Amino acid sequence: MSHNDRIDALNPGTFTLDGEEIDFGPGESILEAATRTGHYIPHLCWHPEFGAKGSCRLCTVRINGRIGAACTVQAASGQEVQSNTDDLNGLRKTLLQMIFIEGNHFCPSCEKSGNCRLQATAYDMDMQGPHFEEFYPDRRVDSSHPDLLLDLNRCILCSLCVRASHDVDGKDVFAIGGHGIQTHLLINSPSGKMVDSTLQASDRAANVCPVGAILHKRVGFAIPIGKRKYDNVALSKQVEESKP
Ligand code: SF4
Ligand code: FES
Repeated sequence: MSHNDRIDALNPGTFTLDGEEIDFGPGESILEAATRTGHYIPHLCWHPEFGAKGSCRLCTVRINGRIGAACTVQAASGQEVQSNTDDLNGLRKTLLQMIFIEGNHFCPSCEKSGNCRLQATAYDMDMQGPHFEEFYPDRRVDSSHPDLLLDLNRCILCSLCVRASHDVDGKDVFAIGGHGIQTHLLINSPSGKMVDSTLQASDRAANVCPVGAILHKRVGFAIPIGKRKYDNVALSKQVEESKP
């Protein structure tokens, strides 16, 4: 970061996003400023309540011609940011296809369908099919908890439950472990199962999952298909960001 960038980080100013002027506040990232002013940049691992992780790369934008993650790059005066372009949306579509084939995301049979950020982002990016060969992994389903279900086949490793458990609940129930293709979500309990953890259904960590990996038992299809968050209004047309 140059001296001028450091000065800008401390002072509010404006940058342009796809030609539109955006105000930013002290220390805000490009994605934070865009979201606060009602502008949509696709993202999966970022949530306004938590610090940025920068892992999904869906928020990739071009900043003064250089590629960067909008959730981790601080806004600075005079930046020219491009987001809604054919090439960046094409890159996002490829990332989404890789996420879809890496897990088991069968939308028609998933309780989260219509309320799922992964599915809604794929619709926005005009993803018509998986393109790559499916992995069809065989991952654990943890149904041990009396009130919650965890299906690791649907986990996209966004780490929002990890951050929520640490930052809000003060429990550290979840962690990300392993490397590369073996990276996976861990439960911090003697048996590795949710039932032996301190997780409760009212915890923020149990209510932040953007996909259908953490579900509440006995409330399946409480909101009928057709009346769910993304059923009728595209994600990109919705102003951020009510709690999922
Ligand atoms: S369980 Fe949900 S919130 Fe937690 S890392 Fe996986 S996708 Fe993200
Ligand atoms: S939202 Fe920025 S990398 Fe995931």
